[in-house]
Amino acid sequence: MHSITEYREEFIKYLNSKQITKEPRNLYEPITYILGLGGKRLRPVLVLMTAEIFDVDFSKALNAATAIEIFHNFSLVHDDIMDDAPVRRGKTTVHEKWDINTGILSGDAMLIMAYQLFENYEPTVFRDLAKLFSKTALEVCEGQQYDVDFETRDDVMLPEYLKMIECKTAVLVAAALKMGAIVAGASEASQDQMYAFGLNLGIAFQLQDDYLDVFGDPKTFGKQVGGDIIENKKTYLYLKAMNSDSVVITKELEHLYSIQPKESETKVNAVRSIFIKTKADIATQNAIEDYTTKAFNVLLEMDIEQSKKDLLRQFGENLMNRKV
Ligand code: IPE
Ligand code: IPE
Ligand code: MG
Ligand code: MG
Ligand code: MG
Repeated sequence: MHSITEYREEFIKYLNSKQITKEPRNLYEPITYILGLGGKRLRPVLVLMTAEIFDVDFSKALNAATAIEIFHNFSLVHDDIMDDAPVRRGKTTVHEKWDINTGILSGDAMLIMAYQLFENYEPTVFRDLAKLFSKTALEVCEGQQYDVDFETRDDVMLPEYLKMIECKTAVLVAAALKMGAIVAGASEASQDQMYAFGLNLGIAFQLQDDYLDVFGDPKTFGKQVGGDIIENKKTYLYLKAMNSDSVVITKELEHLYSIQPKESETKVNAVRSIFIKTKADIATQNAIEDYTTKAFNVLLEMDIEQSKKDLLRQFGENLMNRKV
């Protein structure tokens, strides 16, 4: 096994070796741009790590890892269009730097490039990877649609929210772990356990993303702080705050989520203080811990060496303590 940092470095080296900017430039340059902006590279690291957990050299999993990172970046390019986001990883988003049509088509091309990478695997592995990937990608689309539908609904319930984040985010984290296990030829039972670990971790991860969107440090966060509030996203914070016993507070929050002020900062600040007053911030932190613990409980049942469980646990703990 290697360290998390080593997996990340090996992945970046491989990704860079694959990058070529072809013609037409307006199709390929945005792809090189977004993939080069960095990011945490969580999903490819998970693919490589899981392959080695099941005793196969990580190099065998590099194409699957690249596929998932390209897919993830495709989803971000389209997500930033849908969320009207100006900044990604501290830089201008693709659709703002180029335009919306460029974002759509470059994104589409990335989805196709991701699939192409599976061609490097022998038929049974290819089939299993493609099958998992297609199912996952459709679920991400479903989650993204719910996310947008919820913006204009005022009756979203917590279970619906949890289903939405499971689809838009958690299934891809889960798939990363399962892909590593597939490449390594692990048993179906092991694949499923890895998936379950990733699903819980992925839910915790999106809850943390929601939290940081409101409470992150604008200097280091890399995205527009308050973006979810501006877009009236029905996040865990919002739903918890709406559970408040104070009708004055819930009416105020409902009102804030029905207006689209020119000066968004006042709205963001008002909503943020409601989240603090109702302790929705603390409830969110607790939920992040709960889902991380659920993931760790899956680890306990796994039939792998303790040192490997420790590495997965370390990965989960790093996620919980992240600031970006
Ligand atoms: C952002 O994912 C989108 C979500 C699913 C929350 P990451 O936080 O993994 O983004 P990067 O790749 O590190 O920038
Ligand atoms: C992202 O959700 C989910 C996908 C990209 C599929 P968000 O919209 O919360 O992600 P960020 O915060 O823009 O990274
Ligand atoms: Mg977004
Ligand atoms: Mg979004
Ligand atoms: Mg977000």
